[in-house]
Amino acid sequence: MDKRTSTGTAIGKIILIGEHAVVYGEPAIALPFPATKIKTTIYERKGPVLLNCLFHQGLLTDAPKKLFGLISTIEKIVESIGKRLYDFSIDIESSIPPERGMGSSAAVAVATLRALYDYFQIPLTREDLVSWSNISEKIVHGNPSGIDAAIIIDEKPLYYIKGSPPVPLDFKLDAYLILGDTGEASQTKTTVAHVKRLMDTDPEKYGPLLKKLGLLTERTKISIENRNPKNLGQIMSNAHHILDQLGVSNKILNKLVTVAIENGALGGKLTGGGGGGCMIALASSEKEANLISNNLLSNGAKNTWIYNMGVGFHGR
Ligand code: MEV
Repeated sequence: MDKRTSTGTAIGKIILIGEHAVVYGEPAIALPFPATKIKTTIYERKGPVLLNCLFHQGLLTDAPKKLFGLISTIEKIVESIGKRLYDFSIDIESSIPPERGMGSSAAVAVATLRALYDYFQIPLTREDLVSWSNISEKIVHGNPSGIDAAIIIDEKPLYYIKGSPPVPLDFKLDAYLILGDTGEASQTKTTVAHVKRLMDTDPEKYGPLLKKLGLLTERTKISIENRNPKNLGQIMSNAHHILDQLGVSNKILNKLVTVAIENGALGGKLTGGGGGGCMIALASSEKEANLISNNLLSNGAKNTWIYNMGVGFHGR
């Protein structure tokens, strides 16, 4: 017998450094962001599967194109476990803002996988999670490095190189991370395709920029090991400058990074795919973090979060 109700959850993520370069084999560092979550609930209900989420309420098969990645992953999973898209419904609640580079697409896939496997009472391994969420991410993003799925599954700070097992980082820093949401959509697929175009047309010019981002990730790792927020801040600002040169920043991201620095941040950068979405800044005290956050909000940020990096990162 299938269960009558099952839930699966997943948290958001932040790319601290190395986005885009990670697609080309450079290292990157990602952090779990438990302040935002997705919960998928599967419950028994006669008839064809219904989907209830922010973008759609109705038959799963009538869902809009932007949910194609999720829907086709659900279809493939259900088929692979010998079940039919019948007699259950899917509710998805999320506090991860969609299309902001905070991992909502990978998180929805992971939460839904967890809920589906539990509903059908099938044991779910980490390998299942990695392979299914990467199938979903491939449909959504075209050419994902796998970092979003890895961080969302493992919920630990990770040093990540595409194709290698992620390495957990001991992350405790006497600093505060401020996350600012521009309110503009970040289409990771579009920015990843943009960087690919640059690399296809002028690898001699753009390859070294991606290499530099990789080196900044290595320096970030050392700053974390040495518990040196000041260095980390400078590295973040350098990375932002390179991401801007790659054309994945935009006016509002640049403005918010500048506002953060003018208000005492140790450094700042966009996070995730860019072209909209979110930025992060580092502050040395909670008081400064609040000041930066208030200034981000009065200069166009739609929302901010403050994360105390001194308590260590843990999942939920
Ligand atoms: C998106 O969170 C990070 C990117 O590097 C894409 C990827 O790694 O798949 C932009």
